[in-house]
Amino acid sequence: MTAPAARGMLELIGNTPLVQVTCFDTAGSELWVKLESHNPGGSIKDRIGLSMITAAERDGRLKPGGHLIEATAGNTGLGLALVAALRGYKLTLVVPDKMSQEKVTHLKALGAQVIWTRSDVGKGHPAYYQDMAQRIAGESGALYVNQFENPANPLAHETTTGPEIWAQTGGRLDAIVCGVGSGGTITGLSRYFARVAPAVEMVLADPRGSVLAGYVATGTVGIAGSWLVEGIGEDFVPPICDLSRVKTAYVIDDAEAFSTVRMLLAKAGILAGTSSGTAIAAAVRYCRDRARGAGPGKVIAIVADSGAKYLSKAYRDEWLADQGLLPRPGFGDLRDVVARRAGDAQLVAVAPDDALRVAYARMRLHDVSQLPVMDRGALTGIVDESDLLVAAMAGDRAFERPVREVMTTKVETLAPGAALADLVAVLDRGLVGVVVDKGQLFGLVTRIDLVNYLRRRAVGA
Ligand SMILES: Cc1ncc(COP(=O)(O)O)c(C=O)c1O
Repeated sequence: MTAPAARGMLELIGNTPLVQVTCFDTAGSELWVKLESHNPGGSIKDRIGLSMITAAERDGRLKPGGHLIEATAGNTGLGLALVAALRGYKLTLVVPDKMSQEKVTHLKALGAQVIWTRSDVGKGHPAYYQDMAQRIAGESGALYVNQFENPANPLAHETTTGPEIWAQTGGRLDAIVCGVGSGGTITGLSRYFARVAPAVEMVLADPRGSVLAGYVATGTVGIAGSWLVEGIGEDFVPPICDLSRVKTAYVIDDAEAFSTVRMLLAKAGILAGTSSGTAIAAAVRYCRDRARGAGPGKVIAIVADSGAKYLSKAYRDEWLADQGLLPRPGFGDLRDVVARRAGDAQLVAVAPDDALRVAYARMRLHDVSQLPVMDRGALTGIVDESDLLVAAMAGDRAFERPVREVMTTKVETLAPGAALADLVAVLDRGLVGVVVDKGQLFGLVTRIDLVNYLRRRAVGA
């Protein structure tokens, strides 16, 4: 079927594809995913960006050229920024500092003003992103959009997402699995299906650390922890979030969510965001539980956004390793501090005859400040930013010189069994730690690698 020609990007919001996924063991159930990543801003939040701004225009709270402010984990900001840009509104966003750079870069490029705040504080703290947005709205006279209390948020899903799923499944479905950020999706879908097909189950997918699954199970709100999946999970139950139709909830940890989205891309070709990993892992569990109860069914999971927003995180092994989420052998010694192991082909290196411009390009590309210089598998030196700087100051043709001429050959190596204090002593002298195991380079250790290692150890990852 040919899609109709659109008169602008706002017409392309919604009407997203529904695709069957067969790469997971669903014990006989059909698993389908609703690709909200196909919205113009790359997420389900385009729907509410449009509905909340349209509602504010309609009831006169938003005048031509007006100023909007929102507290957002990114996607709602993008949805609002898209609509604000096309309709001529100013937009300010308060964003917690765990958000991916891709989202924030996208927001700024769309013209939004971004104010960073802390992600490690809860409701009631002045730096909490929602409290901060509300305060700035009060001071500046901007309209606080507040997706957490805005009825136009669930309404968008009740009037668009729900009817689309109903039409796309031909009215044959048993359950919808999704996460909760503001609760707009689950609330809107609950309301729609309560009307048209009350037997359709609403299933919550919740990151480990969020209070919502516990709330569904016990009716009480526990103490929140932290998680890395973005966009879903909460430390409170948002005012618009109606979980009364949710009887089943699954708690999914970060490692399972990330391995699930990686599998979804590798086996089904779907580049989905991290919250989709939580939703699909929960959907798979739900399917397997059905096999022991109601029997095979047709289950829909929501792919709320695109994995393009997380390429530098969940889709990068180095990032997963930094978070302690990449299953790989631990040694109980200095080798565990090495982020990029030579043996895993993760180590970025140069050869002695490479030109300095090659070393420079590799440092920039991989975001590292030094490189081991490897000659036929053996470590012969280290070249770092200060070597490049000294060479560059010395002449215009510096970048054509071979690495061999500027590298440091006096490399102090550490054996795997060396103490952390020995490593710290090397770092304190301004050098990089070089871990050599049985004559072979195992990898380099920088200050930030050591910090990451100590943080992983502190959280027990
Ligand atoms: C990536 C992602 N997944 C899922 C959700 C959940 O949506 P809702 O706010 O409708 O609960 C959001 C929203 O915050 C999101 O950004």
